[in-house]
Amino acid sequence: MKVLEVKDYHEMSSIASRIIIEKVKSKPDCKLGLATGGTPIGLYKELIQDYRKNGTSYDHVCTYNLDEYVGMDPEDPNSYRYFMEKNLFAHINVPESHIHIPDGTAEFLEAECERYDVELNRGEGVDIQILGIGSNGHIGFNEPGTSFSSHTHIVKLAETTRKANARFFQRLEEVPTHAITMGIASILKAKQILLLVSGIKKAEVMKRLLTTNEIDEQLPASALKKHQNVTILADENALSLVKKAHLKYK
Ligand code: GLP
Repeated sequence: MKVLEVKDYHEMSSIASRIIIEKVKSKPDCKLGLATGGTPIGLYKELIQDYRKNGTSYDHVCTYNLDEYVGMDPEDPNSYRYFMEKNLFAHINVPESHIHIPDGTAEFLEAECERYDVELNRGEGVDIQILGIGSNGHIGFNEPGTSFSSHTHIVKLAETTRKANARFFQRLEEVPTHAITMGIASILKAKQILLLVSGIKKAEVMKRLLTTNEIDEQLPASALKKHQNVTILADENALSLVKKAHLKYK
């Protein structure tokens, strides 16, 4: 894992956008793995700005999102489908038919997981996977304890995750209890992974991830240590508990 320390959220978003734009330009039919949450919003803003200013085209790009809440209608403002539309898709020229997000309203959820894996595995793998990290170390919605060999599956959300995500809802009770998520093995199939981390709330988990040799299912993000091409773009606050000398993974 390569750790790139950046000053702040703005710099993290700007560098991440340059990496994505470069990929889209050099490989116009690339596959992008996308994430939700507060962390990638700045990156998406930069992509939109670039699209408006320089016309970088997403006409042949395919996108694959990590996860979706179970039971959440795509039209619901709290669904990840809606989040992606609002924060990115409505503002760039990615064709609707190229957008892939698990369907949390599917009647047969297990079949939906299988369908999503088939989509993901069609042709070449994802070129760049964007990830955020939960303060308990989750990636996608893979909570601590998830098998590293998992593919797309249904998860019961940890209470800490529901509380952290309650800020997007009116009340905690409205936060779904389950989600459908790409598994750890599905995520690790990407050719390149970009983990974005910003803010003091992520300092503890970054310390755990970067200062120990722990590769443990209790810390889902530690699976990334098994991948050959991971870049962590983390800001000063997120790395504030990690003394450079103690960085075990560079
Ligand atoms: C959510 C998402 C993750 C995201 C994480 C961190 O639960 N499922 O994909 O990376 O939490 O969110 P944030 O970026 O808002 O800190």
